[in-house]
Amino acid sequence: MAYASTSLDKKTSILTLQKMKQEGQKFVTVALYDAPMAAMAQHSGVEVLLVGDSLGMTVLGFDSTVPVTMEHMIYHVEAVSRGSDKCLIMGDLPFMSYATVDDAMRNASRLMQAGAHMVKLEGGSWCADIVSKLSDRGIPVCAHIGLTPQSVNKFGGFRVQGRDEQGARKLMHDAKVLEKAGADILLLECVPAALAKEITEQMSIPTIGIGAGKDCDAQVLVINDILGLTPQPPKFSKNFLVESKDIPGALGKYVEDVKNAQFPADEHIFN
Ligand code: KIV
Repeated sequence: MAYASTSLDKKTSILTLQKMKQEGQKFVTVALYDAPMAAMAQHSGVEVLLVGDSLGMTVLGFDSTVPVTMEHMIYHVEAVSRGSDKCLIMGDLPFMSYATVDDAMRNASRLMQAGAHMVKLEGGSWCADIVSKLSDRGIPVCAHIGLTPQSVNKFGGFRVQGRDEQGARKLMHDAKVLEKAGADILLLECVPAALAKEITEQMSIPTIGIGAGKDCDAQVLVINDILGLTPQPPKFSKNFLVESKDIPGALGKYVEDVKNAQFPADEHIFN
């Protein structure tokens, strides 16, 4: 493996992440898409690499994640897995690739065979059956709720979710159903900080937040946002390159700030 070099002693597994939650230690996730970035993130102490379908917007130039295909995802999961031998690699199931249990089984297997250790899918309680079948067959699942970008056309834009009481109740319900179905991680995107805190406290599985306050068990940011490559960065993101001299420095600062609960700060949070 040409790129791998690590500051992590051993491989991160879902057991590592569960233990970190139990011990109140935060873990760090970066959404990235290629081997050199994967190697640098591993070297900087990032535990989880998400090969997100955000790649449709960040590297392929689409205006949403809807056009992303399984072939795009497999190509990038393979690249990231060549760059890291210690991080837990999470592969995103793209739009409509898990519309049925059979689709989910077939496409999740393809991501695992490409080098992912876990798959992520977007959706609430409607995907409980899919989560349960994948989990029964030995595929760890991260369930992504809140702002789920594959549903941008249904939401009518990229909007904070769970702001009213009914929306908040639905997110709490979805979280509980997905945990019961066998999800190993819950990812909360763009939800009010107080709600994310409450969900995190009620879950025995770890939560990863993005735009979900500082009380989640972990944080995730997209590499383009960390490096200031996004023309109109979202409120919840931060350009860590501004205060660092190079990319490993920016990744290291992000890791340090998450671990010390310095990131996200108040200006990155939705109330
Ligand atoms: O696709 C992605 O990168 C994601 C993160 C923004 C959470 O889902």
